[in-house]
Amino acid sequence: MDNRPIGVFDSGVGGLTCIPTLQKLLPNERVVYYGDTARTPYGSKTIDTIREFSYQIADYLISHDVKMIMIVCNTVSATCLDALRNRYPNIPIIGVVEPMANRIVRDAKNEENKPIGVIGTKVTVKSGIYSTLVRKKNPNIEMYSKACPVFVPLIEEGIVKNEIMDLTIHYYLDDFIKEHDLKKLVLGCTHYPYIKKNLKRLYPDLELLNPSAEIVNEVKEILTARDMLAGEDNVGEHQCYASDLSENFYHMINLVFEDDKDVKVSFKKFNE
Ligand code: DGL
Repeated sequence: MDNRPIGVFDSGVGGLTCIPTLQKLLPNERVVYYGDTARTPYGSKTIDTIREFSYQIADYLISHDVKMIMIVCNTVSATCLDALRNRYPNIPIIGVVEPMANRIVRDAKNEENKPIGVIGTKVTVKSGIYSTLVRKKNPNIEMYSKACPVFVPLIEEGIVKNEIMDLTIHYYLDDFIKEHDLKKLVLGCTHYPYIKKNLKRLYPDLELLNPSAEIVNEVKEILTARDMLAGEDNVGEHQCYASDLSENFYHMINLVFEDDKDVKVSFKKFNE
């Protein structure tokens, strides 16, 4: 048993989309969440910058004595996972991409192979990480990807239930889905579950795959295997930090933690 919190981070509010699944599957766990809302989006930055930001955040989470780190950011997972694991060899660090890639491979054993689309940030798409991991295990799975860099700034601004978001979705996805006759779409950025309802309404036949829910299963397996699950007596608050305490950050915190009263929100910015 290990009652220390789990460290969770993203470039902004995106990583919060794993919280409802985390609370459902692992209700005794407490989290220290960091959202780098002042420096988002990461997905159009250079890898050197993303790595530097990730080190700052991971160091900060470690200073809170976290037992594990969940990188709930595809962009960081695609580019910095190995570097982070080398920097902190004694703590399990789980990225959001691998669990999703493993699920795609598992599903393909039982279903007819159909082309799968991946949408993400420029950096994630350029890395080719999803198709590399999937096709290493099953080269017959056809995958296509598309960068959608405007989604994240709109979501961080809270522009979701809105015509502007719908138009942006049409702009990026209409031709992409049609051209490859896609039946499944990986939401390869943890911000995208916030536009799930828009996507379902605009493309009702498309199955959406959500890696930020998938990572929680992996976390549960690892904590169980290492006997590191928190006990039922584990009380205390969830701590959520952001580099800019925007209105939208508070809004999303309320949304994902629902009526959980034990959530403390604080400001933390790093020196440039
Ligand atoms: N939510 C993140 C991801 O999964 C980062 C998006 C961004 O900052 O560009 O890629």
